[in-house]
Amino acid sequence: MIDSSSYRLYGRTKGRKNKKNNSFSKIRLKEIDKTKYNIIDIGAGFGESTIKLAKENKRKIVVCCEKYIDGLNSLFNKAQIEFLKNIYIYQGNVHQMLDEYCEEESISEIWILFPDPWPKKRHFKRRLINKFFFDKIYKYLKTGGTINLASDSKSYISQILKTIYLIKDDFLWLNQSKSEWDYNSEILPTTKYYKKAKKNGLNPFYAKLMKI
Ligand SMILES: C[S@@+](CC[C@H](N)C(=O)[O-])C[C@H]1O[C@@H](n2cnc3c(N)ncnc32)[C@H](O)[C@@H]1O
Repeated sequence: MIDSSSYRLYGRTKGRKNKKNNSFSKIRLKEIDKTKYNIIDIGAGFGESTIKLAKENKRKIVVCCEKYIDGLNSLFNKAQIEFLKNIYIYQGNVHQMLDEYCEEESISEIWILFPDPWPKKRHFKRRLINKFFFDKIYKYLKTGGTINLASDSKSYISQILKTIYLIKDDFLWLNQSKSEWDYNSEILPTTKYYKKAKKNGLNPFYAKLMKI
């Protein structure tokens, strides 16, 4: 547990034009029931990944953890249109969600697609994926649980690869061959930041790891 002042998040919480009330608060985060198959989508942005996961796993719980209100409103509206009842929303920092709501060994699957790259060296410490983060989620993941990551930032990919090496005794890297690192949009969610990467001619990196 870290003290609540450390849950501060950088970056935008609300779009410039957002003046209206936010509807997503109608969905309340339940305490995660560890007996269920729980999927956590961290930093889901506008929620394309959460919707895809929820549609493909109707009997499972999908928790979207995001701080960006406009994105959560968009997710809420899409979930209503698609009659999806298996989505829960946590607005805030994933570290706080884990510390305050999650039980140990309660998560079956984690998704983190295109986390904020923080490209300046002095901001690298703001990046979400590092050894500290893996050490933390190890506790909350079930044995055999998976973590799915994607990024299009060369320096972040290099940091992720170094981290994967550091945690090799705790996590098995399931798609180790280079041909499997390609972010194939037919299988994986077509998110806003995935589309942005493709438009910029980038080839995003995808990694899937399993807790051993
Ligand atoms: C670059 S966007 C990617 C959004 C989406 N996954 C996509 O692929 O389009 C990263 C998102 O992560 C969210 N985020 C960053 N750090 C977070 C944290 N510690 N907990 C929850 N959300 C976080 C940001 O608010 C932002 O919406």
